Amino acid sequence: MTHTRRSFLQIAAITIAMTASAWSFTSNAADVPGGKFRIGIVGSGKVGSTLGAAWIKAGHEVMFSSLDLEQDKKLAASLGPSARAGTTRDAAAFGEVLLVSVPYSAMPQLGAELGELVKGKVILDTSNPVPGRDGDVAAKALDKGAGLATAGFFPGARVVRGFNAIGFERLQELTRKQEGKVGMPIAGDDASAISVASGLVREAGLEPVVVGPLGMGRFLRPGTPLAGIQTPDQLKNIIPTLK
Ligand SMILES: NC(=O)c1ccc[n+]([C@@H]2O[C@H](COP(=O)([O-])OP(=O)(O)OC[C@H]3O[C@@H](n4cnc5c(N)ncnc54)[C@H](OP(=O)(O)O)[C@@H]3O)[C@@H](O)[C@H]2O)c1
Repeated sequence: MTHTRRSFLQIAAITIAMTASAWSFTSNAADVPGGKFRIGIVGSGKVGSTLGAAWIKAGHEVMFSSLDLEQDKKLAASLGPSARAGTTRDAAAFGEVLLVSVPYSAMPQLGAELGELVKGKVILDTSNPVPGRDGDVAAKALDKGAGLATAGFFPGARVVRGFNAIGFERLQELTRKQEGKVGMPIAGDDASAISVASGLVREAGLEPVVVGPLGMGRFLRPGTPLAGIQTPDQLKNIIPTLK
């Protein structure tokens, strides 16, 4: 091999390595603990708007989306320059991290529409399967476990369940107080996604308590021993008793 050709191959290899490392930095930009990032909110209702407002206050940029773009524009306008509104696809593309906070019946459609856009991203999932409200999709999700069911709709995304069993009114109070005295159980399979979610939970005024892998997401919904307002220590004492 001539010297010129070897140099060319070396430069090409370095360029590819730098590009790959830049890509991996970009794709993991949201994983930097304490970092500020772009959050896409899919479902800007009672829970989504409460958390979005708290995260804007904490210094993140947030895009709200729902089925009603005009309403989301008004919401964003009320929250200042770090807030914006878009379609669900806009929010999924915008967010380095996503909050999915919708009636569970919307999951199959959202998975089909947004799946490609959210691969590799952290999805924080507040959505609860409620068969009486959401129909068959919710009944199947309860069988599978809410966390694993959500992950099934967004293959390749790093799903963390959280904020599932605290009333939004109480959530609003806690986001204002920023006390961290109330525990928030979360569950997920990816350590860096758990770290991102933990930061967001703290910025919403609660203390994260990691319950375990995403399969434990079946306990993160109303009506389980982990539901409601509990201290971090109370939650930690309950976790070993879960079956
Ligand atoms: N409320 C609570 O206290 C609470 C607490 C913990 C967890 N959760 C769970 O969290 C989820 C959200 O609860 P919420 O009380 O915030 O409900 P909500 O106020 O009814 O808000 C639901 C949001 O989802 C949007 N949405 C519905 N279908 C959609 C679709 N196909 N595509 C995009 N967006 C869609 C709605 O948009 P439009 O308004 O335009 O229809 C709305 O912005 C539910 O699964 C709930 O069980 C609720």
